[in-house]
Amino acid sequence: MQQRPQPAEYTSSSARSIGDYLISSRSFVEYQAMFALTSTDVAGRVLDCPGGGSSSTATLCEQGGDAVAADPVYSTPVAELIGRLDGEVRRGSAWATAHAHRYIWDFYGDPAGHARMRENSARLFGEDLLRRPDRYVAAALPDLPFPDDAFDLVLSSHLLFTYADRLDTDFHLAALRELIRVSPGRVRVYPLIDQSGQPVSGLLEQLIEQLTYDGVASSLVDVDYEFQRGARTMLELRSTGVVR
Ligand SMILES: C[S@@+](CC[C@H](N)C(=O)[O-])C[C@H]1O[C@@H](n2cnc3c(N)ncnc32)[C@H](O)[C@@H]1O
Repeated sequence: MQQRPQPAEYTSSSARSIGDYLISSRSFVEYQAMFALTSTDVAGRVLDCPGGGSSSTATLCEQGGDAVAADPVYSTPVAELIGRLDGEVRRGSAWATAHAHRYIWDFYGDPAGHARMRENSARLFGEDLLRRPDRYVAAALPDLPFPDDAFDLVLSSHLLFTYADRLDTDFHLAALRELIRVSPGRVRVYPLIDQSGQPVSGLLEQLIEQLTYDGVASSLVDVDYEFQRGARTMLELRSTGVVR
């Protein structure tokens, strides 16, 4: 049988991969939408992992919450990390505008509105990092330096699934087990598609099946946010304590 020619979009690796991990700077408003957060959800101790350049921890703490962020990039000297963020916002914006048809811009208005929100968020992150470095813990999944049950909620955005081109199934499983270890009550992960906007074939199903054996209940929850086309669902995990 003849192979159907693929559009260049799907054959070119530069159209599928953004390159090095982007240190993105999502705002708390984006986190609220992606993770369908209510004030009750964030009333306890919250971990943002990976935190990247997101201002969510800063905003949550500003609003009286109790949050920390973890990311390996926090081992970078503070001034150097802050100095990289503008370039990272531009890299993320360039990626999204180059592939604009894969995105729905309503939440931001247009690409300029998206860039403005991320620039503002990067600035808030930088200010908080300088003021409260203790909120930003240098750590990499799947090994976090927190005790069991340290958090009431973990938010994990744009690492798992997003970078499935370089993170395999074993990594995803180990990472989710680690997030559940530190927050057995609730872990939320978004998005569930990769950086090129494709579902990662079979990965989600395999992970849910494995976690079920660990006694982890999984729910797929529709959210009222869609920037990457098709990313309308988050994964919520909760330990039931009943291992099969
Ligand atoms: C696209 S950013 C997401 C940041 C933030 N959640 C947001 O949405 O703005 C991805 C982040 O994953 C971090 N990262 C890469 N490998 C990691 C690992 N093994 N464990 C935790 N974070 C990792 C990178 O340093 C980068 O900051």
